[in-house]
Amino acid sequence: DAASMRWSNVICVSYNKSWVRFNECRLKAVSRQYVHFNLNITLIQSSTKEVRVHQQLFKRETGYKPFLMNSIYDACKFMRKPFDPIAIMIFKSYRKFTNINHTCPFTGHVFIKDLYLSTEVMRLPLPTVDYLLSIKWIMYRNTQLTTNISYQFVEDLIFK
Ligand SMILES: *[C@@H]1O[C@H](CO)[C@@H](O)[C@H](O)[C@H]1NC(C)=O
Ligand SMILES: *[C@@H]1O[C@H](CO)[C@@H](O)[C@H](O)[C@H]1NC(C)=O
Ligand SMILES: *[C@@H]1O[C@H](CO)[C@@H](O)[C@H](O)[C@H]1NC(C)=O
Ligand SMILES: *[C@@H]1O[C@H](CO)[C@@H](O)[C@H](O)[C@H]1NC(C)=O
Repeated sequence: DAASMRWSNVICVSYNKSWVRFNECRLKAVSRQYVHFNLNITLIQSSTKEVRVHQQLFKRETGYKPFLMNSIYDACKFMRKPFDPIAIMIFKSYRKFTNINHTCPFTGHVFIKDLYLSTEVMRLPLPTVDYLLSIKWIMYRNTQLTTNISYQFVEDLIFK
């Protein structure tokens, strides 16, 4: 397998700092092959019982263009019983790295720790290019935070 996937950039924005505080949102290169993504959020309000997720995929051409996926789903329902096939695929790629492993309510620290990509984790028949996964977290009808994470396929020069 001559290609691998690697995080390339991440942007996190809280639109309501009295509700959502970012303690950490960054990529860390741990080797030539792997880049880890760490996210750590504090939900300051005692209990968040209503979360909807707006997930959009973009492909980089001249700027990021919408690509394949643009959907909104109820994250509390999803965590009770997964239904959206794309959301299941995304969730499978990070579920071992997070404490988002229960349904609502969410309180306190929410994290994703040392999440890396590999072609094994997310097997997609896509060509070498940059993609951006944008997730808007809608809590009680307002977008409270956005996480925009981009990734790329990199050809592995070692085996050439
Ligand atoms: C911002 O967060 C506070 C709770 O900390 C909440 O009461 C308020 O409704 C939120 N504002 C918006 C626009 O959602
Ligand atoms: C998340 O951030 C909080 C506050 O900085 C910290 O106490 C907690 O240990 C962090 N959790 C993880 C898993 O890094
Ligand atoms: C959820 O994740 C946390 C942190 O990784 C872990 O301590 C806990 O056992 C997990 N709970 C379930 C039900 O998997
Ligand atoms: C996330 O990416 C999308 C697509 O490029 C962009 O429209 C949006 O402004 C970005 N959000 C942030 C917070 O950077």
